[in-house]
Parts: sequence; C-alpha cells; structure tokens
Amino acid sequence: MIVLAIETSCDETAAAVVQGGREILSSVVSSQIAIHAAYGGVVPEIASRKHLESIVPVINQALDDAGVGMGDLEGVAVTRGPGLSGALLVGFSVAKAIAAARKIPYVGVHHIEGHLFAPLLEQPVAFPFLALVVSGGHTHLYHVEGFGHYTTLGRTIDDAAGEAYDKCAKIMGMPYPGGVLIDRMAQSGNPDAIRLPRPLLRDGTCNFSFSGLKTAVLQHLQKHPVTLPGQEADDLCASFQEAVCHVLAAKTEAAIRQTGAARLVVAGGVACNSGLRSRMKELCGKAGVELFIPHPLLCGDNAAMLAVPGDYYLTNGFASQRSLDVTATWDMDLIKESMK
Ligand code: KG4
Ligand code: ZN
Repeated sequence: MIVLAIETSCDETAAAVVQGGREILSSVVSSQIAIHAAYGGVVPEIASRKHLESIVPVINQALDDAGVGMGDLEGVAVTRGPGLSGALLVGFSVAKAIAAARKIPYVGVHHIEGHLFAPLLEQPVAFPFLALVVSGGHTHLYHVEGFGHYTTLGRTIDDAAGEAYDKCAKIMGMPYPGGVLIDRMAQSGNPDAIRLPRPLLRDGTCNFSFSGLKTAVLQHLQKHPVTLPGQEADDLCASFQEAVCHVLAAKTEAAIRQTGAARLVVAGGVACNSGLRSRMKELCGKAGVELFIPHPLLCGDNAAMLAVPGDYYLTNGFASQRSLDVTATWDMDLIKESMK
C-alpha cells in the first residue's frame, strides 16, 4: 500500500510517502523551532497557524520527492493525538479531506505508536518487545505485543525526560529546545562533578520523576552560578545527563527483568541523546537483549513513523470513521480495546 502520512501534533509540520509500511519514498519535516524559540517554548496558537501555512507545501513536497501523485495514494495515516488540539486539527482535517476527495481510507494514529515503530523503517523487529519512549511529552516503558497491543509498565509521574532537558537548559540560559545543547556540552564535562538526585531510583516501580532533578539544578545554580560557555557549565550538563541516563537505564533494566524481554526499542526525540544511546548499548550488551534505536532523523517527530502502524491498520480493516475527532490526551493501553 502507498500511504501518505501526516504529522502536526506539536511544532513540526511533516508529511511522508511510505510503501508497504516500511519503505520511505519521501519524508519532509518543516520545523517551527526557530519561531517558538523566541518565546522559550511552543506557543499553541502560533503552532496551529504555522501548520496551516506549511501543510499543503509540505505534502506537495513529499509527493514530488516520492515521485507520486495524489492518484497513486492508497491510504492516509495521520496523528490523531496526543498533542496540541489546534495543531492536530490542521493535519487531521487535511488527511480527512484528501481521503474523502480520493475515496481512499484514512486512519488516526497515536503519536507515540509512530515513535515506537520508527525502528521498523530500518529493519524488522519481532514482537513482543519492550519500548522506552522518551520525548518532550512522554517518558514511558511499554510492553508491546503487536500493533495496537500496548501495556504501560511505567511512566513519568511529572515531567518527561525531554521536558526536563529543556527546562534545565532554560534555567542555564540556553535557547529552546535545549536538550541537544546539553547533550553537546555534556560531552566536554565531568559527569561526577556535581552530585544530583536519582529520583525514584529504588522505589520498586518502573515509574520516573524528573521535576526534582530540575529543582536540584536550579538550587545548585543559585549557589554556584555558571557562565556559558565554560567548564563549570559543561560539568553541570554532564552531571545532569548522567543522572537522567542512570535512572532511565535502571528502570529499563527493571522492566527487562520483569518481562524477560529479548528485544528493546528506544525511541522519541531524547533517543538522539549520545549518553542515552551508549548507556542503552551497554545495558543491552550485558543483559543479552537485542537493541533497536532508530537513526536520529527517525527519533524526532516525523511523519514516516506513523505509516508503520498506519499501514497495518489500513490493510487489516481498522480504518477510521469520517466522524472521528482529534484528542489532546490518549491512553495507549486503551487502543487494544478498540481492536477487539
Ligand atoms: O519526539 P520529539 O521530537 O517530540 C515530542 O514528541 O515531544 O522530542 C523532542 C524532545 C525535546 O524535549 C528535545 O529537547 C529532546 O527531544 N531532544 C534531546 C536531544 N535531541 C532532542 N534531548 C536530549 N538530548 C538530545 N540529543
Ligand atoms: Zn514526538
């Protein structure tokens, strides 16, 4: 099936053409980051308006790059949620309009389903697998038995890992989104320089908490201000990264023990992080678990990833109704109910 995939849940307008749910014919991502950076974070109203401006050119570019026309499309996969409602509505309305005009099916996909299946665009991953999804809005451990069959093993009880990175960067005076900048500076810093907390490390669950870590960074900076760039700032970034990666790895290890998983997928924007990537390789090497982390281009928000579950749903009779609406929040564990 040739599927057009569309993603507008936050600050990236993205479209892709994917064949058979695996082969990327094109993938276009238009980022609004530079616009939102001036406000220190994503402004929902601006995001919706920018999606409106970009969505048609981005889709046309994806079709051109793939060398296909509207008439070649056999289905549409689009992010239905979670995300900013106004932003989601732009992509969702366009997806429905294309499906109606071309008389082809469309399916509304969970944004995180896209993230956790991104590795399948590069290589096969057999079910079941354990998935750690780390993004700006999510830090979740899922047991994945098949498309649509997800069980949450653990989740953040406050900030997501990406949110913690971005907030810590902001406190240090870096522009939004600072996750990638902290990662870069951490590489020249000493991870043992500053002792930061490891929240919920020994609570016996697979849950996470990152808001206390952000507070600890703030309190450290009040006593020991740092200037950018500089060795002290690099040390703080390295110590912060060490704390985040330590907790992510420890909880993932607990989930591997709990499920006996043979495969681990790490996905979402924070899966670009160099510290996390090497920590996960080390963990999986020791535990004898096969590790799948997508190329950084497929870790951040993109539309191609949505076509993986999208193609499955469309070819297995799970197309969405025309009356379906977007949803700002959506529990992944509830999807299996709709597949009975
Ligand atoms: O998955 P994503 O692109 O969008 C959401 O669905 O949220 O993730 C974006 C998040 C941001 O918080 C960003 O700072 C973080 O991923 N991120 C990183 C890195 N690259 C992106 N965090 C730490 N290290 C990185 N290298
Ligand atoms: Zn995302």
